[in-house]
Amino acid sequence: MAAVLAQEMHFTAHEVEGMYFAGLLHDIGKILVDREILTKSGALDLTEYAAMSAHTRFGAEILSHIQFPWEHLTHTILHHHDRPAYDEFSPRRPRRNLDLSHKIIGLVDAFDAMSSDRPYRRALPFKACLNELVHGLSVQFDPEITREFLRAMLRDVERPPVQRRLLTDRFVRGDEKIVRHQIADALLRVEQFMGIITAY
Ligand SMILES: [Fe+2]
Repeated sequence: MAAVLAQEMHFTAHEVEGMYFAGLLHDIGKILVDREILTKSGALDLTEYAAMSAHTRFGAEILSHIQFPWEHLTHTILHHHDRPAYDEFSPRRPRRNLDLSHKIIGLVDAFDAMSSDRPYRRALPFKACLNELVHGLSVQFDPEITREFLRAMLRDVERPPVQRRLLTDRFVRGDEKIVRHQIADALLRVEQFMGIITAY
């Protein structure tokens, strides 16, 4: 999903490939996290949470021993659970595409987690996932990436089902019009949020 989003954001083929590998490898550090913590069905206590959080560091450490053709890969894995800092909202600085990679992975990873069954809870309905994105703006998700993600979904819903790349059957069940409306509504709320930020 991260590679598809990168493609929708007009990353180069090399960058898209880098995003594909980042998507595959981002949680590799979990192999060093206690299995009991990984599969625990209840909420994690503080110690367990700290142990779980270390998977970004473990992953970056593991990958730092391998030479990849994407210099951002270790950085992406290390920072994929970072929260956005407020100073990033304004003013905009020119950035390279791959500087956004950890945010793309963070967003896609969270969306994937919300929309699939986990040991500790069932998958959330599609609309609830969209709401989580909007509620997480500024504290968890980068508004620009969230906006790109929703715009890409909106383009996707217009495609015939077999050509869809983000909105798989998991999301589009039943009435497409409702799905389209839900995405458009979330997009509007993201843009309103960004409007408020830019006005400052
Ligand atoms: Fe992770």
